[in-house]
Amino acid sequence: VKKVYITTPIYYPNAAPHLGSAYTTIIADFLARLYRALGREAFFLTGTDEHGEKLERKAEELGKTSRELVDEMSRLYKDAWVRLGIRFDRFIRTTEKEHEETVRELLKKIHGKGDIYRGTYNGLYCVGCERYYTEAELVDGKCPYHDAPLEEKDIEAYFFKLAGYRDKLLNFYEKNPQFLPEGREKEIINRVGELEDLCISRPKEQLQWGIELPFDAGHVAYVWVDALLNYVSGAGYGTSKFREVWPPDIQLMAKDITWFHCVIWPALLMSAGLELPRRVVAHGFINVDGRKMSKSLGNMVDPLELADRYGPDLVRFLLVTKLPFREDSNLVREQIPEVHKELAGSVGNLANRVLKLLSGVDVGSFKPDTKLKGSCDGLLGKIRKKAGGFDVTGISALYSQEVPELAHTINSYINETEPWKLEGAAKRDAVLNAYEGLLFLMAFLSPVLVNGWEKFRGVVDAPGMGGLKGFGQNSPGLEPSSSKLIMYER
Ligand code: MSP
Repeated sequence: VKKVYITTPIYYPNAAPHLGSAYTTIIADFLARLYRALGREAFFLTGTDEHGEKLERKAEELGKTSRELVDEMSRLYKDAWVRLGIRFDRFIRTTEKEHEETVRELLKKIHGKGDIYRGTYNGLYCVGCERYYTEAELVDGKCPYHDAPLEEKDIEAYFFKLAGYRDKLLNFYEKNPQFLPEGREKEIINRVGELEDLCISRPKEQLQWGIELPFDAGHVAYVWVDALLNYVSGAGYGTSKFREVWPPDIQLMAKDITWFHCVIWPALLMSAGLELPRRVVAHGFINVDGRKMSKSLGNMVDPLELADRYGPDLVRFLLVTKLPFREDSNLVREQIPEVHKELAGSVGNLANRVLKLLSGVDVGSFKPDTKLKGSCDGLLGKIRKKAGGFDVTGISALYSQEVPELAHTINSYINETEPWKLEGAAKRDAVLNAYEGLLFLMAFLSPVLVNGWEKFRGVVDAPGMGGLKGFGQNSPGLEPSSSKLIMYER
């Protein structure tokens, strides 16, 4: 069976990771863990986008070589993700040899197919800098460093015949309506109607920090073409592993970069003769205290600072269950301690309560409570269905509502049955029903509360406790073993 292949954008390592990049990466990690909990194998790729002018400039600014800067910064990303409980299967850096070779190989294919031609585009040249500028880079119409006027020059460059893919793209969207991100279909389809060819190279005298084109060493690949192909090289292109993984099932990102992923990306893949991804999934932007996050406003939220203070589980719980997925969200910093209290109060207290009751009964078979069992099985069925359809918005909705609510349902069950007043079989039934409910809840939350889940496992597997092994004989879809708890279809 094919592995569920999940990707995040590869981030520009010109600044430290922040809550926005942490959001996408935590959602991706949550999904990978959820699929594993459902018994599927998953492959989760993330990484850093290390070429291009932005990085070259930043390095110059800091008096470092580009290589030094990206080595240092990519380590920062990797470490940050680990501290947030993120477990990627592969962290790709676009400056790796393996990636550079894959990019060259695919560009050779695309070139061989006749989809790349040499042309010119009209550029603005600064003699002082010996490089071209784009309109956007100019300050008052001039080079940001020199006072001299810019010269118009024709730049030799390579173009990808993107316009030729217009009908093929439209046809693909029509046949695969789940591919485009929900709510953004119209906007993309309209723009595809006016597609132009894409310049895919920069002359080396303008940019050194890039991948040389395989058919012209005087030019390097445009950074977006280089970056998009990370999903191919990161999946192990050219090795036997590639077949187990390709194509991507869920490509997560915010709405800022959907154009590249919905249009340029599939066209490149069509040209290279590779199967197309199943779904591009776009989430909203996180705003903080009602404003866009920015250093000058002083409202930047550092996910690592939060993780140090409250633990990584709180950061993950906050991002997965408290923010709307598709729309822009507003994180109110003042509310973070409340969410922390809520998590401890609902899940933490419930677990303690049930485990205390459990220590007074013999674990064995019991009469299931139809209502509580129905809630658990019903929710498992819903999660399975949404996951089976790769419906990330749907999964996210269940995790903002029904999963946290299950904690209250179990609590009410305990309050109603009052097992401490019962004896014998009646007591055992009440306690073990609550315990099984807790196992479901913890199984559902295990992709979110990664430390909490480990801790829970340690406690229930201790001698004299309920354990996980062999438990769940009443559950048609829960397979507990001492090492993991699998929600699967029996
Ligand atoms: N390097 C490119 C992506 C290449 S992928 C082939 C890039 N990098 S980036 O560092 O700018 O990252 C953009 C992504 O970071 C967004 O698409 C989103 O996943 C995440 N976010 C950045 N700021 C964010 C918020 N404020 N809120 C939510 N996500 C945010 O673009």
